[in-house]
Amino acid sequence: MMKIVVIKGDGIGPEVIDETLKILDRVGRFEYEFIDMGGCSIDKTGEALTKEALDTAKAADAVLLGAVGGPKWDNGKVRPEDGLLAIRKGLGVYANLRPSVLYEELKDACPLKDTVVKNGVDMLIVRELTGGIYFGEKGRSSDEAYDVERYSEAEIIRILRKAAEAALRRKRHVTVVDKANILESSRLWRSVSSAFFRGYPQLEVDYMYVDNAAMQLIKDPSRFDVIVTSNMFGDILSDEASMLTGSIGMLPSASLGDGGKGLYEPIHGSAPDIAGTGLANPIASILSAAMMLEYSFDMKHESDMIVNAVRKFLSDGHRTRDLTSSPEYVTTAEAGSLIAGNIGKYKA
Ligand code: IPM
Ligand code: MN
Repeated sequence: MMKIVVIKGDGIGPEVIDETLKILDRVGRFEYEFIDMGGCSIDKTGEALTKEALDTAKAADAVLLGAVGGPKWDNGKVRPEDGLLAIRKGLGVYANLRPSVLYEELKDACPLKDTVVKNGVDMLIVRELTGGIYFGEKGRSSDEAYDVERYSEAEIIRILRKAAEAALRRKRHVTVVDKANILESSRLWRSVSSAFFRGYPQLEVDYMYVDNAAMQLIKDPSRFDVIVTSNMFGDILSDEASMLTGSIGMLPSASLGDGGKGLYEPIHGSAPDIAGTGLANPIASILSAAMMLEYSFDMKHESDMIVNAVRKFLSDGHRTRDLTSSPEYVTTAEAGSLIAGNIGKYKA
């Protein structure tokens, strides 16, 4: 039986994960093991991720994560986010796949005009996840601070390979996003990319500065298929791309390394302001579980069943609070139950 290590985390994390487990129970039998990470772990152990918890995660077939963080821990010596970086690094999941799809049913929730999104939004951001400025040397003195962006050729090549593989399954178009007019590390990304993609003549490849990419995402999102970029740029652009789909509450992610194991998490944070109110949208977490079935468990059929159950929920007109301005909305738990009820009824 596939073993899933589940990390509920902080804020809305436990709520969205509970709904996700409802859905998983409908599509298969899995063994779950729960570990603490983030603020809840700091409260219990003083550490954002203990070594035992990381070892447990390493021994699983996949890790499913809600979200971590909150104002309670913002000024502490140890931050909840340290746990997130440690588990990404510890599992070696260097490729973070963040799909942005605007469902037909949610066209009204997209803040862009119909004329801009008439050709749809269906892109995949491939974000480098275990290098760059997030993990570079950092320092602080009384009146100065610095963070170093550093990439090796090997780190760039392995993420490009993930992007190329994804593009071959999609529309065969890769956009490499960097800031090569300013940053030396970006110039390395560019030269490594142009050599690498010579080996993929079937792919259309273009290069774009990150500031321009931020603009093009809003101007003509349909021009993108796969975007591959550094940790920091991918973090920023994926939040922007998420809004094209109506809400950050819709976006799942898969973080993969070289084996089959992955870490699956919604791209949204712990939203402490709405924790416990039933306002959270569980769809990003539910779709992350669908990605887990597809990428780590080779259960594409069940994965599609989950995606279809979500679509049916939306096409039936149900909306969580983030997706509507009307006072008529469903709670986190109602959304989970409705989606769970759709499983199997609408087979893939
Ligand atoms: C994300 C989040 C994290 C990141 C934070 C919580 C550390 O914003 O997954 O996008 O910056 O990677
Ligand atoms: Mn982010």
